[in-house]
Amino acid sequence: MSAVPEDAIAPHGGKLVNRDASPEARKEWLGRAGELTRLTLGAREVSDLELIASGGFSPLAGFMKSDDYAGVVSGMRLASGLPWSIPVTLSVTEEQRASIKTGQDLALADETGGLLAILHVEDVFPNEKQKEAQEVYRTTEEAHPGVAALYRSGEWLVGGPVTVLARPPHDDFAPYRLEPAQTRAAFRERGWKRVVGFQTRNPVHRAHEYIQKCAMEIVDGLLLHPIVGETKGDDIPADVRMRCYEVLLANYYPKDRAMLVVNPAAMRYAGPREAIFHALVRKNYGCTHFIVGRDHAGVGNYYGTFDAHDIFAEVDPEALGITPLFFDHTFFCAKCDEMGSVKTCPHGKEHHVSLSGTKVREMLLKGEVPPKEFSRPEVAKVLIEAMRLRN
Ligand code: ADX
Repeated sequence: MSAVPEDAIAPHGGKLVNRDASPEARKEWLGRAGELTRLTLGAREVSDLELIASGGFSPLAGFMKSDDYAGVVSGMRLASGLPWSIPVTLSVTEEQRASIKTGQDLALADETGGLLAILHVEDVFPNEKQKEAQEVYRTTEEAHPGVAALYRSGEWLVGGPVTVLARPPHDDFAPYRLEPAQTRAAFRERGWKRVVGFQTRNPVHRAHEYIQKCAMEIVDGLLLHPIVGETKGDDIPADVRMRCYEVLLANYYPKDRAMLVVNPAAMRYAGPREAIFHALVRKNYGCTHFIVGRDHAGVGNYYGTFDAHDIFAEVDPEALGITPLFFDHTFFCAKCDEMGSVKTCPHGKEHHVSLSGTKVREMLLKGEVPPKEFSRPEVAKVLIEAMRLRN
């Protein structure tokens, strides 16, 4: 589907990709699928396939070929010249590679054996793990969860467009599973011309709320877009994070100004590179603005607090299309008696309520409610209950 004229922002590359098979093609491929070599996709690849199918990854029409891959890894550009910062690839082992040729069609299935798509192989090329780790993740250390996932992948990459036969099945978050064409339609219906997107993988706290609301002051609406694809094992599960959002929205947000929609993507923890990628995906969902706070998509100490801001200077703003909104480290200041950042608060650190993730986890595990300056009590209650059930 192409962008209708009243959309405030065109998808990346100008056209919203849709890779669903036509009913006739679907029937034909289903009939032939049994004869094709079959690849089983991991959780991240299934997420990627879903985003390719729906246009969340426009202009990508499949898994990357070597020209796109090389351009993205070393220069943050697709072969077409469009900015793109994260490889979207499909790997195979040395053994699988032996029976795959350019021109072949492969059946892509999920781990339950469900057939999802056909990959029309146009390229088979080496997976340059060390180079990708260094350029994209800025480290070759296996302790980095994104690098570890990369190192676990196969030695070869298969690239080419996909024809999608079935969307990955989901039995959760049904009311929140809107695709780019649907969020775009919803923004048009609401008359939202300027929409800010918010990426998150952590339980919502007051600093998140504050930066969202600062942004809401200058746009028409907010797309809350938490990641519900694969995250690392010690991140709080998506269903708990979603319950936190539900109680927060019900109690503290105007109904007609915020939309909660899940993002099926997997986290890469690539910090600055992922910030650009996150912005482009939200552009495809119809957002005109995108929030980038401190250590966006970071993990451990791999990235500087504002590396994810600085990287935007390397990308032509016009080609990027979506406008980043940068936020400094924000906190509650007891002396100001409100939220702020070093940009707005003149007081010393001793007045700031700043809790580490570890500290909050410890409090929640003990059933202690973190201070209301850190977390809304309704949200803390959801988290304490989730911890209690898990233990
Ligand atoms: S992330 O991996 O998705 O970036 P998280 O869900 O914690 O993690 O962050 C969501 C967004 O809020 C990111 O843009 C992040 O930079 C921003 N953010 C989180 N905490 C703060 C804070 N205290 N001050 C400013 N920005 C923050």
